[in-house]
Amino acid sequence: MLVTLIKGDGIGPEVAEAMKKVLKKAGSKVVFEEVNAGETVFKQEGTYIPDYVYKSIEKNKIAIKGPITTPIGHGFRSINVELRKKYDLYANIRPIKAPGPLDLKYDNVDFTIFRENTEDLYAGIEEKISDDEYHSIKIITRKKSERIIKAAFEYAINNKRKKVSVVTKANIMKLTDGLFLECARKISKDYPQIEFEEILVDNCAMQMVKNPSQFDVLVTENLYGDILSDLGAGLVGGLGLMPGVNKGDNISIYESIHGSAPDIANKDLANPTAMILTACLMLDDIGEIEISQKIRKAIYKSLSFKENYTRDLGGENSTSNFTEKIIENLGA
Ligand code: NAI
Repeated sequence: MLVTLIKGDGIGPEVAEAMKKVLKKAGSKVVFEEVNAGETVFKQEGTYIPDYVYKSIEKNKIAIKGPITTPIGHGFRSINVELRKKYDLYANIRPIKAPGPLDLKYDNVDFTIFRENTEDLYAGIEEKISDDEYHSIKIITRKKSERIIKAAFEYAINNKRKKVSVVTKANIMKLTDGLFLECARKISKDYPQIEFEEILVDNCAMQMVKNPSQFDVLVTENLYGDILSDLGAGLVGGLGLMPGVNKGDNISIYESIHGSAPDIANKDLANPTAMILTACLMLDDIGEIEISQKIRKAIYKSLSFKENYTRDLGGENSTSNFTEKIIENLGA
């Protein structure tokens, strides 16, 4: 199967190489069509997303990408947001679960965040009223709210989850968040077998820190979802471990939660786990489930020894060495 690979900027190429090696050694049939987008490409070609990148994504329908540095002051608002909008990748799905026996405050965290990916304050509609006043418009529509909420309930059913929590601030944003909540209340009635919970975002953040195992599937708007998923990542070992995917009806772009981490780029220090687990989500979806399970087990085993830890986990191991450990453990 042909999959578009965008290595991206910063630590992107390092973690993408690690991911490619692990998939190959694990016996995956995926063949990568490599194209690139982002800052590095802009410097060489004068464009952030060359046409051949769009063509490759549209042909293959499945892409996996490393992080892309967001240009400041010129070009797109964000290349990531541009791709999500162009292909209407409305569901940003982020499973929050520790991939190994890490020394964490909680060892029973296992929830998945469904974040609406195309509207809210990310619609990018801002205006200057005066030098001292700026406005940003929050857009919430019935159609886009309903489809992400449905996707969350369908996921709950298909993955034997018990509860869906809708996260809003509907007590204050009575119209926008009120609409999102109204859609969730209505759709929840079609899924009587799934427990439905309403929770305000501030309380949700506090509950997530105090008692995260109460959560199962969460569905929320774009900005709350972004913040809560970083919070969730912090609960289970940090950004270097967390996978994700942006899904639309026809195209999926798999990408980890983390950014291009310019502070550690090109130093062989990045944790490749997030990118490798992101590829595992893709393997699950294309039917290479045995391969993804083998890789997850190898990651678990590799994270069982502190001497294997990369710097983000408090260790001193390099990206390349940790990748070799995972490969060694594929047969374990
Ligand atoms: P970041 O996620 O790049 O870094 C935050 C912190 O986490 C840094 O200390 C970094 O060293 C660490 N970190 C992140 N990933 C790691 C990994 N795999 N292993 C070890 N440590 C890791 O977030 P930041 O600094 O806010 O953003 C940097 C750039 O990335 C910005 O231009 C931002 O817009 C972009 N970005 C791109 C994303 C994407 O392409 N999907 C997502 C988030 C940010």
